[in-house]
Amino acid sequence: MGLKLNIIFMAALFGLILDSSNIANSQILRFEATDNGAILPQSDITQALLKAWSNACASTSPSKVVIPNGIFKLSGASLEGPCNAPIEFNLQGILQAPPADANFTGGDTWVAFEYVDFLTVSGGGIFDGQGKPTWGKDCAKDQYCGNLPINVRFNYVTNSIIQDVTSLDSKQFHINVLGCQNVTFQHVKIIADENSPHTDGIHIGRSTDIKILDSNIQTGDDCISLGDGSKHITIAKVTCGPGHGISIGSLGKYPNEEPVNRVDVKGCILKNTKNGVRIKTWPDSQEGEASDMHFEDIVMENVGNPIMIDQEYCPWNQCDSQLPSRVQISGVSFNNIRGTSSTALAVKLICSGGLPCQDVEMTDINLKYSGEEGEITSECKNVKPTVSGIQNPPACVTIEA
Ligand SMILES: *[C@@H]1O[C@H](CO)[C@@H](O)[C@H](O)[C@H]1NC(C)=O
Ligand SMILES: *[C@@H]1O[C@H](CO)[C@@H](O)[C@H](O)[C@H]1NC(C)=O
Repeated sequence: MGLKLNIIFMAALFGLILDSSNIANSQILRFEATDNGAILPQSDITQALLKAWSNACASTSPSKVVIPNGIFKLSGASLEGPCNAPIEFNLQGILQAPPADANFTGGDTWVAFEYVDFLTVSGGGIFDGQGKPTWGKDCAKDQYCGNLPINVRFNYVTNSIIQDVTSLDSKQFHINVLGCQNVTFQHVKIIADENSPHTDGIHIGRSTDIKILDSNIQTGDDCISLGDGSKHITIAKVTCGPGHGISIGSLGKYPNEEPVNRVDVKGCILKNTKNGVRIKTWPDSQEGEASDMHFEDIVMENVGNPIMIDQEYCPWNQCDSQLPSRVQISGVSFNNIRGTSSTALAVKLICSGGLPCQDVEMTDINLKYSGEEGEITSECKNVKPTVSGIQNPPACVTIEA
């Protein structure tokens, strides 16, 4: 056994343990966000956390911010880099967002990690957004839904791992990933009611090399949604439901959107979701591109519209033009998709009349309709997929381009 040395400093409100352990040669600085009664569970740890973070971030050897077991209030925190060395945010307890009523406003962010390289988030703890009271709004009419705090944001975070944490009852999206590169999410759990509006599980935009693995997402909106500029995204062994399924898009709403390129969704299970896997773009859209998107080995359990490309996506009838989408979709494959569809229309490939979908492949699609009336069907427009293997329902038997 090696040398083990613990020196305890008391610094301001923090217990700071310098632990030169026998595990490798690195030192771990441990900034406890609580210490002997200085910060009691149930008190607001915002200031303590910001201070612990800035101390840890300044360390030139790997450091760790530990939030121990207990329930802690956090009014909101932006945890910023760049840091001088790898940093770990070890959340063992429960962080609680400010409570809300039905008219709550409180900015668009609760917790943010920004400009950090080599971040690890871990610990088995919970980010509790306490969003239930804010879920009653009608998002069709109300801008309110999109202006609530997102539980956890990762902005410009690189080479990082987010694992073994839960996002609970977010007021808006649970996790938002923007401008990130090489970030892996694994064993992440997301929980909110089926009826919670605008609570996408993980939304990714303008990011490269992002993996979401072995995770479980139960929420009221998209399980995972990919916005413009999502590149080299892998989603594997994720279980979704309830929720709206796994979505690429919606794309084409705003000018200067970046292309979506290379998305692999594989080995996932969707249960009781409103949609399965889909690509959606707005009609009369801005120009855009989405290519190289592959959906493989996916089990559908009582899922609405299990397979869908929708280039006429227009929720709440807010589009007044019938002009086609100008987002070019190409290189799409659906391979080994099986299980049950809760809608008779199980395969819907509606592509743009201006830019028909290119290189679409359907292989081994085996879906059964779990409802009572009618037969399982497909609908296609402006697409001629290459079809092989089992086809239930037969894909694109009627092409009404
Ligand atoms: C929210 O605002 C509406 C409209 O101003 C008001 O009628 C309602 O009582 C408010 N609800 C709460 C919980 O404050
Ligand atoms: C990606 O991030 C992981 C986790 O920090 C790191 O181990 C790996 O070296 C990074 N990969 C590249 C290509 O930088």
